[in-house]
Amino acid sequence: MTVLELRDLTGGYGDMRILHGISLSIERGKATALVGANGAGKTTLMRTIAGLLPVSGGTIRFNQSEIAATSAAARVQSGIALVPEGRLVFPTFSVEENLRLGAIAPRARPGWRARKEEMFGIFPRLAERSQQSAGSLSGGEQQMLAIARGLMALPDLLLLDEPTLGLAPVMVQLIFETLARLREAGLTLLIAEQDVRRTLDFADSACVIENGRVAAGGSARALREDPRVRAAYLGR
Ligand SMILES: Nc1ncnc2c1ncn2[C@@H]1O[C@H](COP(=O)(O)OP(=O)(O)O)[C@@H](O)[C@H]1O
Ligand SMILES: [Mg+2]
Repeated sequence: MTVLELRDLTGGYGDMRILHGISLSIERGKATALVGANGAGKTTLMRTIAGLLPVSGGTIRFNQSEIAATSAAARVQSGIALVPEGRLVFPTFSVEENLRLGAIAPRARPGWRARKEEMFGIFPRLAERSQQSAGSLSGGEQQMLAIARGLMALPDLLLLDEPTLGLAPVMVQLIFETLARLREAGLTLLIAEQDVRRTLDFADSACVIENGRVAAGGSARALREDPRVRAAYLGR
């Protein structure tokens, strides 16, 4: 079943168009990878889906409703959560306060305390540091917090923008293991990642973005074998 469907989506910053007609379908319970060079438009696309940047043309259907004209808050309420590039946790707030802030949408308020405990189960390091300021955490711990904060919104679709950028290999491994468990539990994932090889190994399907356009798309396995993808992103 299709959860998110983009058709001919265009957008960008003011008059500067970055997305030139993106069409993409995302299936429920699957992980979809957004792959592309720096500056290709992955973050712009993520922010446009989340409602942080305006849509200038095309449609965004989410769970059968058209949402392209709705606010970012309305999209969180409808079940879309963004884990932004660079984590962007609130540095002076504690881990616990950051989690609380993830649950401010009406859909997420009931049961937020129990969900916070669930997050501490998924990420025991956050439990140990629950009263510490988020700014005092390591990069990997901040990424865990950013993911946990996204999950506090009780999303149907979790958008992850460069969740492993700058992290040590052991932490990258841990983040991907966590994402695998979330997918097993039925969560739908859209992941933009610079670690193309690992992301294509993990994802079910993938979409290659070049200069704000979809250059290739399909099953992650097929793209992994695609000679152009291999030459451009896998270095072989
Ligand atoms: N705030 C902004 N204002 C204007 N242009 C921007 C802004 N942020 C990004 N861009 C431009 O949009 C294009 C796509 O960037 P981005 O979506 O961040 O790419 P990616 O995430 O794939 O690296 C780039 O040319 C970038 O310079
Ligand atoms: Mg980016």
